[in-house]
Amino acid sequence: MDVNNVLVVGAGAMGRQIAMLCALSGRNVALVDVDAGMLTTAEQELRSRIGRNVEKGRLAQEQMDAAFGRMRMTTSLEEGAADADFLIEAIVEKVDVKRDLLSKVDKILPPHAIIATNSSTIVSSRLADATSRPDRVCNMHFFNPALVMKCVEVLGNPETSEETIETTVALTKSIGKSPVLLRQEISGFVANRLLAGIQDEAVSLYEKGIASVADIDTAAREALGHPMGPFELMDMTGIDVNFYVRTARFEESRDEAQKPKRAVVEKFERGELGRKTGVGWYRYDSAGKKLGPAD
Ligand SMILES: NC(=O)c1ccc[n+]([C@@H]2O[C@H](COP(=O)([O-])OP(=O)(O)OC[C@H]3O[C@@H](n4cnc5c(N)ncnc54)[C@H](O)[C@@H]3O)[C@@H](O)[C@H]2O)c1
Repeated sequence: MDVNNVLVVGAGAMGRQIAMLCALSGRNVALVDVDAGMLTTAEQELRSRIGRNVEKGRLAQEQMDAAFGRMRMTTSLEEGAADADFLIEAIVEKVDVKRDLLSKVDKILPPHAIIATNSSTIVSSRLADATSRPDRVCNMHFFNPALVMKCVEVLGNPETSEETIETTVALTKSIGKSPVLLRQEISGFVANRLLAGIQDEAVSLYEKGIASVADIDTAAREALGHPMGPFELMDMTGIDVNFYVRTARFEESRDEAQKPKRAVVEKFERGELGRKTGVGWYRYDSAGKKLGPAD
């Protein structure tokens, strides 16, 4: 199926970048948000980001102007949905809010339109029955910052049609991304499960007293070539994120191995959440510069 008109709902951190990727690929894009202020912020941030790419010679000024010319921003879902071939939902990570949006937009979208969710944790089988087209609903999971990160995970629910997956994979490729196709739904998808495995092993080596936080990070960077160590990354994303994701995964699976690790729980309870609190696995100064290990 050809995708000419894309609707992105949610103009936050992710939605605005996804919308721009689609506009840069030559598609007409409607970016919708309930908050008009968010649309203004989204446009300002995109103009400054894409403008920097023009200054650095990565993009021609005409390409930038044409992409903004193909993108309309509106608070009207009706206007954005009327002619859309493909919807990418990037609103707040709450299943009830997403279901409410999908049931509403399902009644306005053309019958052939596909509905993809960018959710990091909610599989599309939890959303598909809010629509009249479960065969046209899937996950399309981008990574932050979406303008830069190449990977997009694509997965269907048991009712998703082959054509929906093929169209989503083709769209992913055509916006310059590398699709990773999952053949079954699983919480955390692939990349974040790999990451969880690395983080678990890192915390476990530390808990057993095998090596220090700093040395485990050095091994990840200098033996495995990772851009940053697992503890450095947890400090950047927030130790609370690790805690909440693992707690949710345990509650869903009842598998003890999915529970947050003891050292993570201790950090969480002490409010040592990483860079944002000035201390996590490392200590940071007020400018965010790493000072040294916390323990
Ligand atoms: N931030 C990340 O690193 C990241 C990475 C991958 C996927 N995701 C997923 O992307 C989605 C969005 O995350 P984000 O970080 O961009 O969130 P965000 O909080 O930055 O933005 C969410 C936007 O949705 C808008 N919104 C809320 N309800 C709406 C509705 N009913 N209709 C229209 N707009 C509505 C809000 O006004 C806000 O602008 C989530 O599902 C999240 O799991 C986030």
